[in-house]
Amino acid sequence: MDYIESEYFSYKDNQLYCESIPVKTLAREFGTPLYVYSKKFFRDKFTEFTNAFSTVNHTIFFAAKSNFNLNVIKLFYDLGSGIDVNSMGELYRALKIGADPKRILLTGVGKTKEEIKRGLELDILLIKAESIEEVYLIDKIAGEIGKKAHVAIRVNPDVDPQTHPYISTGLAENKFGIPASQAIDIFAECSKLTNIEVTGIDMHIGSQITMIDPFVEAVVKMTELTKKIIAKGVKIKHFDVGGGFGIRYKDEKPFTADELASALIPIFMQLDCEIFFEPGRFITANGGILLTEVLYTKSNNEKNFVVVDGAMTDLLRPSIYGAYHHIQPAVKSDMNDITADIVGPVCESGDFLGKERLITDTKSGDLMAVLSCGAYGMVMSSNYNSRRRAPEIIVDIENYFTTRSRETYEHLLYDEKIVDGLH
Ligand code: LLP
Repeated sequence: MDYIESEYFSYKDNQLYCESIPVKTLAREFGTPLYVYSKKFFRDKFTEFTNAFSTVNHTIFFAAKSNFNLNVIKLFYDLGSGIDVNSMGELYRALKIGADPKRILLTGVGKTKEEIKRGLELDILLIKAESIEEVYLIDKIAGEIGKKAHVAIRVNPDVDPQTHPYISTGLAENKFGIPASQAIDIFAECSKLTNIEVTGIDMHIGSQITMIDPFVEAVVKMTELTKKIIAKGVKIKHFDVGGGFGIRYKDEKPFTADELASALIPIFMQLDCEIFFEPGRFITANGGILLTEVLYTKSNNEKNFVVVDGAMTDLLRPSIYGAYHHIQPAVKSDMNDITADIVGPVCESGDFLGKERLITDTKSGDLMAVLSCGAYGMVMSSNYNSRRRAPEIIVDIENYFTTRSRETYEHLLYDEKIVDGLH
């Protein structure tokens, strides 16, 4: 079988380490399933991205939806990142870490009145509107509470990001943004509204995009459009490229931040705008693993199964996108390789972490590491089957910190109760 290693997760004496900590130590102390993150990875990736664009005036807004752990958000914030939030809950988290509202963007195709109002009350940097109806609503609410709303409009550039259809967002068929064909009129209309100042133009074409071409195509289209909007007298101060920068899960060969920068910077040079980026996965995914313990192994005439204690409730991506996450033993052994499905305990056939995997034969009690779980892992977990969500540990060289403990059964009940009078 193949073992994937990195500077952040590597084997020493056959043991998998996160930075300087054997992951087995963490599994023993905190139990499994368990999320483990490398602080150094987050720092290095953020720095790599921002350094690549050092010659242009830019700001990174970490897409908190990819990993909304307070400490992860804070780590990026302390490195100079702003925060891209997609809901009141993410906004709450951003405020919890003490973020200055002037470093927060509010995103989302379906923001509620409450979310818009809260954003305006806080004077966040900007709200990204996705329809003319939303722009009118922002204008109305801003008028009611006596605020001037700073708004960017998300335009759908209609390019094919060549990624999984569920995570494509920049095609005409997708629900996001306004069509490029209506953009000039909509920007002109918005700039007439009294309670709004249109400050920027925004795009986000999808996620896990590993080729540069869709970005170049979209940025070229949006740049041409921006020039036309500016020619109509609208001041565009910033151009938001969104996120979507792909990573390696298996054998993808994604572009590097430097390659992206070389392709995009000459286009940005045509505009006098600050450039915004909203990376999520690129700066988080390969900084996290999910540790899970083998409960049982079995085989029928057709297949081998490794039943582990991690499930679709901990990591949903394989079940809903058929996503590949590399799975490898946390302790290397000299057992023979077998082909097996790695499945969880939830009562769904769709509950698997990996299918048809070539993996060293394993036994009950062995520890497995599921890789690339720093993005869209914990944040998409659920309590289905009344399972408790996993703890999250961040390793910082030879220290480690519990940023969130395993939920208790009481947490699962929250304020649910047997109601008097109903029975
Ligand atoms: N900005 C906007 C407006 C977004 O909608 C997203 C992600 C991002 C930035 C960050 O994208 P990233 O750099 O992480 O690709 N659950 C899916 C991914 C959904 C992405 C949603 N939007 C998955 O597990 O692959």
